[in-house]
Amino acid sequence: MRVLVKKGKLSELSNEISVVLHFEGEKAPHKAASGLDKATGGLITRVIESGDFPGKRFESLVLFNPEQNGPKRIILVGLGKSKEFSLETLRGAYAKAAQQIRLVGLKEFYGSISFGESEDNVYSPEALTQALVEGVMLGLYQFTVFKTVDRENIREVSEFYIVEDREDILKRVKQTAKEAQIIATGVNYARDLISHPGNEMTPKDLAAEAMNLEASSKRLKTKILEAKDMQELGMNALLGVAKGSDEPPKLIIIEYRGGKRGDPCVMLVGKGLTFDSGGISLKPAEKMDEMKSDMAGGAAVMGAIKVAAELDLPLNIIALIPAVENLPSGKAYKPGDILKTLSNLTIEVVNTDAEGRLILADALAYAQRYQPKAIIDLATLTGACVVALGDNVAGLMGNNDELKGKVKAAAEATSEKVWELPLWDEYLELIKSDVADFKNSGGRPAGAISAGSLLSKFVGTYPWVHLDIAGPAWVTKDRPYIPKGASGFGVRLLVQLLRDWPIEQ
Ligand code: BES
Ligand code: MN
Ligand code: ZN
Repeated sequence: MRVLVKKGKLSELSNEISVVLHFEGEKAPHKAASGLDKATGGLITRVIESGDFPGKRFESLVLFNPEQNGPKRIILVGLGKSKEFSLETLRGAYAKAAQQIRLVGLKEFYGSISFGESEDNVYSPEALTQALVEGVMLGLYQFTVFKTVDRENIREVSEFYIVEDREDILKRVKQTAKEAQIIATGVNYARDLISHPGNEMTPKDLAAEAMNLEASSKRLKTKILEAKDMQELGMNALLGVAKGSDEPPKLIIIEYRGGKRGDPCVMLVGKGLTFDSGGISLKPAEKMDEMKSDMAGGAAVMGAIKVAAELDLPLNIIALIPAVENLPSGKAYKPGDILKTLSNLTIEVVNTDAEGRLILADALAYAQRYQPKAIIDLATLTGACVVALGDNVAGLMGNNDELKGKVKAAAEATSEKVWELPLWDEYLELIKSDVADFKNSGGRPAGAISAGSLLSKFVGTYPWVHLDIAGPAWVTKDRPYIPKGASGFGVRLLVQLLRDWPIEQ
């Protein structure tokens, strides 16, 4: 779908349907809707006064305009109490509006960033515009690639118009709408990659997709390290995990050089388990299908670097995605095996289902060769993180307060929740091995932290943050602008982080 910005007033443009937002408890339509109220012969006032539409958060109502001019219909959407308003409410309200409009079968709709007496002063036109675009584009996401029956019944909204009358603000809204579309498209791109099942998104497919990124952008360079390259380098942890599968592993490297030549890069590392069965330490059958999403970290960093290139960010960025399948077979790695990693440290495999940290150990060690100014890894790493923080929050760990602060600020800005877990030295006790330098599982206590602690041993002294996204990557119940399934968590956060990155002179 496309987002377009149009000069004018909602009440004066004839269109199929316009969005009108309403705060709970307010007695009259807001100032910006007064024109629409007139154009509809006082319809909005009457509905509000009747009590039919209290304006509860995300409540909605479609009404026909009895008059001849302006929109044919309006959709009222509740914002809840104005005291509790946030951009997150706005994203959700526009997602709700867009979904309702799609259900009605309409192809386009109109909206505006003016809706409250004070709220549109608290937030900049940029922030409001971005929230509208994200709400609509992320809320309308659907994954229909493999639906073959009645495809003509798949409804799609094709245009969303943001109407703005203030000359001075129009340009800013237009620019932001353009950027926000790039960002939301990046999130939906990651969702698409994640939604593809294991048979349609093997390590080879993911690598081919990275080659597509290169082909579609002059600014991106993709390089794939093959199994033989990994053997020469000594990435035996990554190779160990891959042994049970007939699909060869790939180490995907995507480079974007938007910064000064020679300026160190920001390194994004994403876990790319295209399917995680657990291997010999096989997972239970129930919900194993969801483990097609075990490459969500990889998808997020691919989405983020794609967006960074399209936004032309003045930074050097490298994305590193170890892509592997974890399966049991006669060739598979086994509990008890000891793997010699790229950094020469050895890891005893006590559980083949703790495979993410093994492939990341080699990827992170490899990342050091670029002498990056920061390393941020995203991984659906542990069920323990979901137990600790729930399924809407990523665990954050790291070795550098400044970088942690930057990631937290970015997460705050995009409403992708992160919460820090400590990496105290004592947790290293959990992953001590009798026969190797470390073991790959510390058992039940502090499971997310023991995994993070192992990773910390492979980043050297580079500033590093690890996000365990096992919870938020996959959503089992619709959220306001995240339909159930792949969320694309991390793309917006990473893009925010990269956009805010201080540029050295
Ligand atoms: N990919 C899983 C983690 C996961 C679990 C992601 C649930 C999303 C939802 C990871 O590879 C894994 O299996 N971790 C094990 C580690 C354990 C064996 C130490 C886990 O969390 O059970
Ligand atoms: Mn696993
Ligand atoms: Zn996994």
